[in-house]
Amino acid sequence: IRQLVKQRRPRGFPPGPTPLPMIGNILSLWINEYCHFIIQIFSLDLGGISTVILNGYDAIKECLYHQSEVFADRPSLPLFQKMTKMGGKCWSNSWMEHHKLAVNCFRFFGSGQRMFGRISEECLFFLHAVEQHQGKPFNPKHLVTNAVSNITNLIIFGQRFTYDDSDFQHMIEIFSENVELAASGWAFLYNAFPWMEYVPFGKHQKLFRNANKVYDFLLQIIKRFSQDRVPQSPQHYIDAYLDEMEQSATDKATSFSQDNLIFSVGELIIAGTETTTNCLRWAMLYMALYPRIQEKVQMEIDCILNGRPPALEDKQRMPYVEAVLHEVLRFCNVVPLGIFRATSQDAVVRGYTIPRGTMVITNLYSVHFDEKYWSDPSIFCPERFLDCNGKFVRHEAFLPFSIGKRHCLGEQLARLEMFLFFTTLLQRFHLQFPEGFIPSLSPKLGMTLQPRSYSICAIRRQQ
Ligand code: HEM
Repeated sequence: IRQLVKQRRPRGFPPGPTPLPMIGNILSLWINEYCHFIIQIFSLDLGGISTVILNGYDAIKECLYHQSEVFADRPSLPLFQKMTKMGGKCWSNSWMEHHKLAVNCFRFFGSGQRMFGRISEECLFFLHAVEQHQGKPFNPKHLVTNAVSNITNLIIFGQRFTYDDSDFQHMIEIFSENVELAASGWAFLYNAFPWMEYVPFGKHQKLFRNANKVYDFLLQIIKRFSQDRVPQSPQHYIDAYLDEMEQSATDKATSFSQDNLIFSVGELIIAGTETTTNCLRWAMLYMALYPRIQEKVQMEIDCILNGRPPALEDKQRMPYVEAVLHEVLRFCNVVPLGIFRATSQDAVVRGYTIPRGTMVITNLYSVHFDEKYWSDPSIFCPERFLDCNGKFVRHEAFLPFSIGKRHCLGEQLARLEMFLFFTTLLQRFHLQFPEGFIPSLSPKLGMTLQPRSYSICAIRRQQ
């Protein structure tokens, strides 16, 4: 049997550990022993799915940047086929037209001075809600999630949801639970053995139940927000999508459809919310953990802003804030393995052959801890992003948003959100842990890395 299993690895494929019968190397994903950064390219058999793992900046750049076209697909995994009926921009074969529409909508509805103003408005709602806790301990998770998701909501629905909208909150909660479950052993087992659909217990069933609830909720709100639509005069992403759908109605090859609208809306909501929320939650945690760094952030905020709200131009004038946010992105690795890619044609990397359709995992975590590019990578040190004059410096091996054709399309928006939420929060409050509370720094594992729940006190500052 072992011989048979071994033959599943294609000829010339990168080497990897011997797979176990049936389940292959699924267990090594958790044992982690083969994910050592020294091995830049190796393979795993994830229950019959041949997968290439890329480690470190050099290998990832070589594939995602220098062979951008070849590494631009997403794998068609049974789990995502089942959950999206093979729809959704991320996973579908015809990702390009969805990608183009989303990029245009983000540019049109989600950038520039107007968006800056709308994020600043959301910051005021956020500060007001934090204020309600009057310096007493609270878990910031829900508040940050609500505030951050509203920015994507503005682009998708043209409107924010109030912080007490329990239906919307429930949808985000179970969606985010799915992001966690999608990286569980059950999810990998389902990908290897799709007949597990008929096994009535297990976390894969929870995933499907959650996905169905999210689908029903999104269907309802999409209907609600498209009621007053004026064709060819889009006010938000849904309008723009429906325009595209109407225009391509006679084109048999089009991928614009009612189902794909629902999946792409879901994908944009979760991609924009889960990531930026986790980054801000890590940033708050590290500020309370390192009061000296917090103090330096506040000194810069007070010196540059002098009590007024931040403006768009201030971002360049606040190198220490930028350095701290970059270090949070590097150190906390909210999307540690990127989003799984696949090869669109046969590829050759460092003498190895990678056939078309192979799943590729980009270990972005390894890039940020790559000792060739970072000194003492396991130390949280914002100063690594500053030169000797205190000016912000970029680092080549900094890829929290990945690179290449499928890199994060919300990068600019995320950077703006992080800057505004972080700056306005620390301008008004001092963050500290409740007396005697020691936070856990080990993340909760999933497709994203989030901090374990913690309580924090936001004490109003005297300025
Ligand atoms: C994809 C990171 C915020 C929308 C990705 C990828 C990463 C990432 C690593 C995978 C790219 C690849 O496969 O190479 C982050 C981080 C964020 C963030 C760290 C915040 C700190 C956002 C926001 C949005 C967004 C605010 C917008 C709503 C997307 C979408 C994709 C994506 C739609 C899929 C792109 C595609 O398949 O072509 N993101 N992201 N992200 N991100 Fe983000």
